[in-house]
Amino acid sequence: MIYAVANQKGGVGKTTSAINLAACLADTGARVLLVDLDPQANASSGLGLRHTDGLTMADVILDGADVQQAIRSTGVPNLDIIPSSPDLAGAAVELPGREGRERILQRALVPVSGTYRYVFIDCPPSLDLLAINALTAADRLIIPVQCEYYALEGLSRLMETINGVRAHLNPALGLSGLLLTMHDSRTRVSGDVIAEVRRHFPDVVFSTVVPRNVRITEAPSYGEPVTRYDPHCVGAQAYVAVAKEVAARG
Ligand SMILES: Nc1ncnc2c1ncn2[C@@H]1O[C@H](COP(=O)(O)OP(=O)(O)O)[C@@H](O)[C@H]1O
Ligand SMILES: [Mg+2]
Repeated sequence: MIYAVANQKGGVGKTTSAINLAACLADTGARVLLVDLDPQANASSGLGLRHTDGLTMADVILDGADVQQAIRSTGVPNLDIIPSSPDLAGAAVELPGREGRERILQRALVPVSGTYRYVFIDCPPSLDLLAINALTAADRLIIPVQCEYYALEGLSRLMETINGVRAHLNPALGLSGLLLTMHDSRTRVSGDVIAEVRRHFPDVVFSTVVPRNVRITEAPSYGEPVTRYDPHCVGAQAYVAVAKEVAARG
């Protein structure tokens, strides 16, 4: 099953959720692949891969490199990653003129989809061709929503894009769920946003809400998912619970 973790807004918890859901599911014994599709490469550095010399998603997407040769293992057993690189930003210039430009990632992932029970695609903060490639390659979508003012802003455009992809490119694209992130129980607004998002999107919001937790912020600088960095903190426990919901929703 291929999951795209998407929201065109930056800083809502896409990368954090992609890393930690991937790690939690790998901890259950399933083989998991994390695909870093953001030129900022935060998922790669967050798992300890910085400026590596091997192949990256830029080579796979822009130059047709073999995806299997771009796969690296991580410090987490069962979790592999295809890292990104700033070169992937070239997609905005290079892809638009290409034949089949929306299906490059979908085609690239065919050889590995049988090897991994879960593939997570960490999307860039945009709705450009890279993001469309992710939505076209995915079976399911996870949309992180930050518990902040304007949380719903941009979601209608995202839903329109999803419907466009369903109509023209990937009719089977399903919504796994909306994931409320960075909840701060001390602020009133955070609770208000949770209620509002649940009202707008009944049924699809995951029942687990990820709290704002400093251990989650610290973990990437150690190149570890929070579930390794501090397995007992509330942030790690929340992602373990979300991973169970994701697996149960199928
Ligand atoms: N639950 C959380 N608690 C505290 N900080 C968080 C939490 N989730 C994400 N962050 C921090 O917020 C910032 C943005 O998160 P990130 O996952 O990179 O968002 P995106 O990929 O959507 O841009 C990062 O610095 C990250 O460490
Ligand atoms: Mg990110």
